[in-house]
Amino acid sequence: MQERLKELQTEALEKIAQAADLKELNDIRVSYLGKKGPITEVLKGMGKLTAEERPKMGALANEVRDAISSGIEEKHKQLEAAAVEAKLAGETIDVTLPGRPMKTGHRHPLTNVIEEIEDLFIGMGYTVEEGPEVEKDYYNFEALNLPKGHPARDMQDSFYITEEFLLRTHTSPVQARTMEKHKGKGPVKIICPGKVYRRDNDDATHSHQFMQIEGLVIDENIRMTDLKGTLQVFAKKMFGEDREIRLRPSFFPFTEPSVEMDISCKICSGKGCSVCKKTGWIEILGAGMVHPNVLEMAGFDSKKYTGFAFGMGPERIAMLKYGVDDIRHFYTNDVRFLQQFSIHE
Ligand code: DAH
Repeated sequence: MQERLKELQTEALEKIAQAADLKELNDIRVSYLGKKGPITEVLKGMGKLTAEERPKMGALANEVRDAISSGIEEKHKQLEAAAVEAKLAGETIDVTLPGRPMKTGHRHPLTNVIEEIEDLFIGMGYTVEEGPEVEKDYYNFEALNLPKGHPARDMQDSFYITEEFLLRTHTSPVQARTMEKHKGKGPVKIICPGKVYRRDNDDATHSHQFMQIEGLVIDENIRMTDLKGTLQVFAKKMFGEDREIRLRPSFFPFTEPSVEMDISCKICSGKGCSVCKKTGWIEILGAGMVHPNVLEMAGFDSKKYTGFAFGMGPERIAMLKYGVDDIRHFYTNDVRFLQQFSIHE
């Protein structure tokens, strides 16, 4: 019996030493120390022992039990510590790994161009004005010397909402509105950027909705040379100091005389290429001296005041500046296109 108990102790301690995890260890505890375990089984034979032997055997059984349970306890601590170690190792953060770059947005290329133009004119003393996109026929046409039935209205196919209201076809109505606000007193010196709408079919160079920037200066003694000087500064700042400008006679009902401005082609330096259609020049904007009728209708004395105005399309300017070949790129918002302009932040 004594031997059997010793054997059980050795056997249990061996198993404990080999236990791989806490569950296995618990199984060992249950099987050796439980009520139906082998020690209890051995002790059932105590009845056959002499009264002298019995307490000795009881003491030995307790020793064996104690040895097994302290073995289990010891192993339990080891396994627990190992589990904590493993968990810590698994959760280690490698602070030397490079971070994942965050995706940030950036401004739209057209916004960049518009703000660049705004800054340029603000630097020359202009203020920025805005006007409504749903505009009265009066401001969009009539106040700009385009009475109802005027053939030049056909130059701008319009989206009418009612007979009196339409989506503005250009930013020129802001001229008429601003002049009206000044109640016949100069000077006026504004630019107004904004969206405009035309009943055009969209293609590489047309969009039913696009941007314009309008400029207007009214004061005493404003002359054509002031317009030319202003446009020259604009062209050089926007497209490079080596750009030349050229004014060609044109027609707009709200200006007299009217001109269109070209800049010398940057790509071929005026020699002629496909971008400038072999002319060496690229058309940029329309301009002219404000028509006396426009001044008078807005309450300005055209004998005292003169002024100039100009209107341009930021899309066209952005297309030339960045070599974009299709106006629709600005509106379809393909991030692969837009991402190319993130350097301008
Ligand atoms: N409003 C004209 C257009 O949309 C552009 C323009 C031409 C504006 C001459 C002007 C100007 O102020 O003087 O075609």
